[in-house]
Amino acid sequence: MTLQWIDNQKGIDRYRIDNGKGAMVEIITLGARITKLIVPDRAGDPTDVVLGYDDPAAYFDDTTYFGAIIGRVGNRIDKGRFALNGKTYALATNDGANHLHGGKVGFDHRVFKAMPLDSNKLELTYTSPDGEEGYPGEVKVTVVYTLEEDNALTIAYRATTSADTPLNLTNHAYFNLNGDALSVGGHIAQINADYLTDVDEGLIPHGELLNVKGTPFDFTSPKPIGRDWDGDHRLLKIARGGYDFNYVLSDSAKEVACVTGDKSGIVMTVLSDRPCVQFYTGNFLDGVEGKQIYPYHSAFCLETQGYPNAVNVPSFPSCILKAGETFSSTTTYRFGVK
Ligand code: GLA
Repeated sequence: MTLQWIDNQKGIDRYRIDNGKGAMVEIITLGARITKLIVPDRAGDPTDVVLGYDDPAAYFDDTTYFGAIIGRVGNRIDKGRFALNGKTYALATNDGANHLHGGKVGFDHRVFKAMPLDSNKLELTYTSPDGEEGYPGEVKVTVVYTLEEDNALTIAYRATTSADTPLNLTNHAYFNLNGDALSVGGHIAQINADYLTDVDEGLIPHGELLNVKGTPFDFTSPKPIGRDWDGDHRLLKIARGGYDFNYVLSDSAKEVACVTGDKSGIVMTVLSDRPCVQFYTGNFLDGVEGKQIYPYHSAFCLETQGYPNAVNVPSFPSCILKAGETFSSTTTYRFGVK
């Protein structure tokens, strides 16, 4: 196991953790992003399973959120507005009239401070000032990436705040388990969720849940990601053909989802203590030039999270982090082969 500082380009530090067993991850301080994640495929060949850019400086102009930590609040907030403790707040809007992934300059574009904790552990910290993107309170966030011996990457999140504020942290890695830039439609996916949060035309949940049974959204048993994504269902259209929905995880689910690359045999199991996961199939990708050229549907994301738009939906569990309390959460991406 080794943790190594690689370089600093335009103020962005890059680190590498290698577990000596075929898994390696590269992380940069801009957005605490995962820029490379190598795991062995079925033949033992090293395969980079995340989308990204070769040049760390390319992340300055990134609009896809490749590999980034998302905050303060991942996913959408209706009109960027909410009320808290008798005050109303207007956040930066950056997705039409709505707030997405922390606003105009979310955590994905903030420079974190990196500190190696061990030969397999990198800590990244960022202090989000009071009022940033319209949010109340100063938030101190810590993200620790740990690469395990058994080819699992764990992300541990911790945050505190000086005043009550909404918080919904996630990581926005885009995966292609075949290591190519072709459609992920043939990947086999299973998601441990019977419900998703229904959305309006702007992809905003307002409290209604949709039972996935018998719909194109049912991933309770493994199926090819692309089997049903061309359908006429209203929600598939709203998501631009494909998936971009918040799945509500079954109560007992520690195991969130399991996806297999149909060509590589690489199996990724996601474990988390969060209540939900955003399953997104790269419906906004349009030929982004990165390590490869990434077209529509060439990746999927499994963003573990709290309920989106929870600040405006009383029936959703609250996402407010209170002053004096500590938020902490863990998500693991474990890799194997089949
Ligand atoms: C999330 C959202 C998508 C899209 C991507 C980034 O997954 O739910 O609608 O905005 O991020 O492009």
